[in-house]
Amino acid sequence: MNIEEYMQRAISLAETYRYTAKPNPMVGAILLKDKTIIAEGAHELFGSNHAEVNVIESAKKKLGEKFKSFSELTLICTLEPCNHRGKTPPCTEAIINSGIKKVIIGCQDPNSRMAGKSIKKLIENNIDVKVGFCENDIKEQNKFFFYKHNNQKPYLTVKIASSSDGKSHYRNKDRTYITSASSREDVQQLRAQYDAILTGGNTLTNDNPRMNARVNFEINQPKKILLSNKNNLDINQQFFQDSQVEIVKEKNLETVINNYKNKDCCSILIEAGPKLVNAFLSTNLVDEVIVYQSPHPLGANGVDWFNKDITVESLGFNLESSYKIDDDTKKIFLKC
Ligand SMILES: NC(=O)c1ccc[n+]([C@@H]2O[C@H](COP(=O)([O-])OP(=O)(O)OC[C@H]3O[C@@H](n4cnc5c(N)ncnc54)[C@H](OP(=O)(O)O)[C@@H]3O)[C@@H](O)[C@H]2O)c1
Repeated sequence: MNIEEYMQRAISLAETYRYTAKPNPMVGAILLKDKTIIAEGAHELFGSNHAEVNVIESAKKKLGEKFKSFSELTLICTLEPCNHRGKTPPCTEAIINSGIKKVIIGCQDPNSRMAGKSIKKLIENNIDVKVGFCENDIKEQNKFFFYKHNNQKPYLTVKIASSSDGKSHYRNKDRTYITSASSREDVQQLRAQYDAILTGGNTLTNDNPRMNARVNFEINQPKKILLSNKNNLDINQQFFQDSQVEIVKEKNLETVINNYKNKDCCSILIEAGPKLVNAFLSTNLVDEVIVYQSPHPLGANGVDWFNKDITVESLGFNLESSYKIDDDTKKIFLKC
């Protein structure tokens, strides 16, 4: 196997924890002795050991007394190891203390406070460091994480369900499901990918939504962000029950989103009604729009998503893909 093939193995180890590592990046690591993989590890759970520590611990357990020295081993890790004390001690410390003398890193950490610092520290400690293998795959795997650090804001996606005549919901009626059960199931998978789900006060009071990700695999549930100035919120509503809710009274959306620059949140899914969605789309903050379109109209009693002559395209988005989910169509638009 060559370095790229080992790196691909580390990438696939990382991938196993896509939904439990977030909002941290997925990271995988392996330890090689000569050309044989002797241990594997990944960052499995947000707040727990990083991949580099897990692989070192795994090697110690496996090799026990037979194991002479880490100096004979090469560490391959997908992302630059951390050099700071966060929820866990710095990985650079664990690597240096283990005696490893060769480290191959897939991609430098995009976080400007971190980028390159760990590499420098490892080199200063007489470790041979090589960087830059399968970088595009690692960036793609951690799309939201790289986006956040390169743009100093979380990736924002607006998701809407629309009737065939462009309506959001019925005026003066209880909650209506516009799209099919399969589309709503797809939304659960979508939610599972995001670090937070954002909505507004009217949607909360009118729809009594849960807005969690109901999937049959283990995930870190997205946080909920509620933009509302209502003083009479019913915190016994199901929305408040199963994950952390942040109530935000600030109305300026740039200020709201800027507030997440330094928080553990790389991606936000906006699931709101026409007022808040249009307010977001009138800013430059939104990166993606996903429309689940039903073949059925709501008619004159339906509330329009957009003013006459406004389309997602006219708001500065290009159609990236479009496919059927039962009778509905899912359209994904990316910012031009
Ligand atoms: N078809 C769909 O995909 C879909 C999805 C979600 C909701 N809906 C429907 O949408 C309806 C509600 O739509 P909506 O747009 O009135 O309510 P919304 O989604 O709650 O958004 C508007 C509310 O957001 C809050 N907000 C905070 N900052 C804002 C800002 N800068 N600009 C605009 N709003 C801001 C305000 O809450 P406060 O008034 O509490 O301060 C405001 O009333 C619901 O009945 C629901 O059925 C449809």
